[in-house]
Amino acid sequence: MREEAHQDLTPLDQRILDVFRGKESDVVSGEELSALLDVSRTAVWKHVKSLKSLGYRIEALPSQGYRLLSSPDILIPAEITAGLATKRLGKRVICFAEADSTNLTCFRLAEEGAEEGTLVIADTQRCGKGRLGREWTSPPGVNLYCSLVLRPPIMPFEAYQLTFLSAVAVARAVERTTTLSPRIKWPNDILINGRKVAGLLNEMSAETEKVNFIVLGIGVNLNMRRDQFPEELRHPASSLLLEGGSEVSRIPFIQALLGELDLLYDLYLREGDGPIRAEWVARCNMVGRTVTVSCRDSALTGMVSGVDDSGALLVRLADGKEERVLTGDVKILAD
Ligand code: BTN
Repeated sequence: MREEAHQDLTPLDQRILDVFRGKESDVVSGEELSALLDVSRTAVWKHVKSLKSLGYRIEALPSQGYRLLSSPDILIPAEITAGLATKRLGKRVICFAEADSTNLTCFRLAEEGAEEGTLVIADTQRCGKGRLGREWTSPPGVNLYCSLVLRPPIMPFEAYQLTFLSAVAVARAVERTTTLSPRIKWPNDILINGRKVAGLLNEMSAETEKVNFIVLGIGVNLNMRRDQFPEELRHPASSLLLEGGSEVSRIPFIQALLGELDLLYDLYLREGDGPIRAEWVARCNMVGRTVTVSCRDSALTGMVSGVDDSGALLVRLADGKEERVLTGDVKILAD
C-alpha cells in the first residue's frame, strides 16, 4: 500500500493563522506577531512565506504588517478542524495526498486502535472502492474521498442502519453548501436531477455478538468535470459543479458533512435509527416507481412499495407478490 502524507501546518504556522483569525482589525504588524508568538521577526517572515507557498494569500503592507486575504482549499487537518464544533467526530483528521483507498487506510488504522471519529481523507485514490467490487473514480483536487471510524455499541445485524446516517448527512451537507435538492436512491446513492453525485461504502469489523468498528466511506463528486468521468459513467454520474453550475469548496463541504454526521450519530446513539430512517425515507425518491433490480444473474421488475425496518427494498411484482430485496442495482424505469 502506498500513501503519501499531506503537508500539514507547523505549530508556528498554525499560531500565526490563529492570530490573523482572532484579530478585530485585519492587519497585524510583524512586530506584534513576533511579540505575541515570542519568536524573531525573521521567523515570522519565514513562516508567512511558507504559508504563502501552501496557497494562503497573505498581503504584506509596507510599514503596516500582514493581512490574511484568503485560505486555500487544500486538505490540511488544521483547516478542516478550524472552528469545527463537533462532539465526537473529526477530533483526529489525517489527510493524504494519495491513498489506495481511504476505506482501506481507515480500516487499518481502526484495527490498530484509532479512536472513534478519526477521519481519513485523500486528495486522490488510486483504487477507490465502490459497491459490488466496482472502482470509484477518484481524480485529484476536485472531490471528497473520506472514511470515518465509528465504534457504536451495536450488534452486527444492526450495522446497516449506519448507511441511513451517512446518506442523510450527505444530503443535508449538499443542501447547506449549495442550492441543489439531493434525493436518495436505494440503497445508498445520492442523486441530483436523477444523476449520481455521491456514493457510500460502509465496511465493518465484528465478532458474532459485537461490532468492533464500522468504517463509513463517503465519496462526493464536488467539482468533477464531464471529461473526468470514464465514458460509461458520463450519463448516470455527475457532480455538484455540473448540476449547480458553481464550484463547491472542499473545506466548507467537509465541515458541513462532519457537523451533520456528528448530529445524526448523536441522535442515533440516543434514539436508535428510527428518526434517521424516517428522514431517509422522506428523502428517498423510490416509492411508487417502477424499477428493475438486478443482482448477479437475476433481475426482477415491479413497483417500489417501501423500505422495511431492516433497510430492505420492498418491490411489488406484477402478480401482487411483495419481494424483499437486500442488495442489487436499481434502475428506475418509470415514475
Ligand atoms: C458506491 O459504489 O456507490 C460507493 C462508493 C464509495 C466511494 C468512497 S470514496 C471514499 C471511500 N473510500 C473508498 O475506497 N470508497 C469510499
